Amino acid sequence: MDLDSDDYHDFFASLGLIWFLALWTIWLLGTWAARNRYRLRPRSPLSSAARTAVPGVSILRPLKGLDTNLYENLESTFTQEYPNFEILLCIADEDDQALPVVRELISKYPNVNAKVLIGVEDVGVNPKVNNLMGGYRSAANDILWILDSNVTVHSGTLARSVDALQTPTKNGERVALVHHVPFAFSTESRVGSRIEEAFLNTNHAKMYLAINTVAIESCVVGKSNLYRRSDLERVNGSLKRITSPEPNAKQDGLCGLPAFGRFLAEDNMIASALWHELGLRHDLSCDVARNVVGNMSLRDYIQRRIRWIRVRKHMVFAATMVEPLTESIVLVAIGSSSLKYLFGFSRWLYILVHFCMLLVIDLDVYTSLSGHPLPQSIKWEFLAGWVTRELLALPIFIIAIFGNTVEWRGRTYQVLKNGEVQHVSNHRSFLNSFAILRWYQPQKYQVLATDPVLP
Ligand SMILES: *[C@@H]1O[C@H](CO)[C@@H](O)[C@H](O)[C@H]1NC(C)=O
Ligand SMILES: *[C@@H]1O[C@H](CO)[C@@H](O)[C@H](O)[C@H]1NC(C)=O
Ligand SMILES: *[C@@H]1O[C@H](CO)[C@@H](O)[C@H](O)[C@H]1NC(C)=O
Repeated sequence: MDLDSDDYHDFFASLGLIWFLALWTIWLLGTWAARNRYRLRPRSPLSSAARTAVPGVSILRPLKGLDTNLYENLESTFTQEYPNFEILLCIADEDDQALPVVRELISKYPNVNAKVLIGVEDVGVNPKVNNLMGGYRSAANDILWILDSNVTVHSGTLARSVDALQTPTKNGERVALVHHVPFAFSTESRVGSRIEEAFLNTNHAKMYLAINTVAIESCVVGKSNLYRRSDLERVNGSLKRITSPEPNAKQDGLCGLPAFGRFLAEDNMIASALWHELGLRHDLSCDVARNVVGNMSLRDYIQRRIRWIRVRKHMVFAATMVEPLTESIVLVAIGSSSLKYLFGFSRWLYILVHFCMLLVIDLDVYTSLSGHPLPQSIKWEFLAGWVTRELLALPIFIIAIFGNTVEWRGRTYQVLKNGEVQHVSNHRSFLNSFAILRWYQPQKYQVLATDPVLP
């Protein structure tokens, strides 16, 4: 059969139409999921149960320096309404500025079982994992709740999360991990902070909830995760399914938290490992991980996004490559061309309708997560942040995709396949194994020269 150019046009226009309808379906699904899960947050019966009637939880908080809001963030773990938990505050060294804050809280809440663990155990390149090891080894309970230092939670979060961890999914599968969608709030009016806030609270949350509702793949950012140490002790981060039929069979080699020290996004990998190696599922409770965005400049925002994309690229390549096609600027081009070709729709009318509808659903997601509509006081800054994010998404993606080094807390890392990372050192022999990557990345040598961790 001969295809003339009209057939091709029809084909691509239809494909475009299907893509853009699919994306809108996903967005609406995310918006619905946000309404469904977060508009009502009932108290869990576990909050007021007897101590012996609930499983114990060890809360691990890796700390480094004075994060914005550190006191309130930590205090929110001391005030959890749950009868049986301990708090393990993990600090790398005695001079850390977080230590006085921690001491103050411990004396303010003498009835809470809280311990400070000072020191690191060097199990890999990820400083957060090294810092957590002390807490991981001395945790008294099987259920661990690992919370970033810049996260604040509601006092009912732990009880609702343990509930979710103990309740099988609708298909009867066991839940291995409970996570919380990040909700950013910024106390600063800086450009980067506002864009980050607009991004996490709208587009990111909507996609995150949609993917987790469909639940065909692990999708977890690790600001606040609950899981069992006994499950983690069985996986090694290879993401290969355990083949042995024995109920508690474990993987070969190093297992448990130390096995994840080789990844930069260790929380993300732990979630994937529990999903793929053990064949278990994840769930969300109806709580958000309130993430206080510090003082971020535009440059900080761009660097953070680049870091995420570069790490993700090595973990879920196909999904990352599809990402630009899900961004409004590209989607508007596809959607408007298809509609114009197939139905003679006005391009400008479509663009107008697209962005108005997108803003309406994004603000709806914001309201669901925060429990109130967008405050008047930040309305214009938030909208400016939202528009800037839409405009920056594609350029940032293009920069991120060509390159493999990331900067994190003042150090430079090379992202390897599977999301493993390595400190960049200026050994030529090491770089030579990445010769293919080098030709389009001439700036790498410069990065190396200024790297503060060079031996
Ligand atoms: C993890 O375990 C699997 C099989 O149990 C093994 O093939 C793989 O090499 C292990 N990976 C690591 C990094 O130890
Ligand atoms: C929050 O802390 C984690 C590590 O504890 C860090 O990776 C992340 O960048 C921080 N986020 C913000 C918004 O500061
Ligand atoms: C935020 O950072 C800017 C520039 O680094 C600084 O001028 C400003 O004082 C900072 N604001 C706060 C509250 O730390």
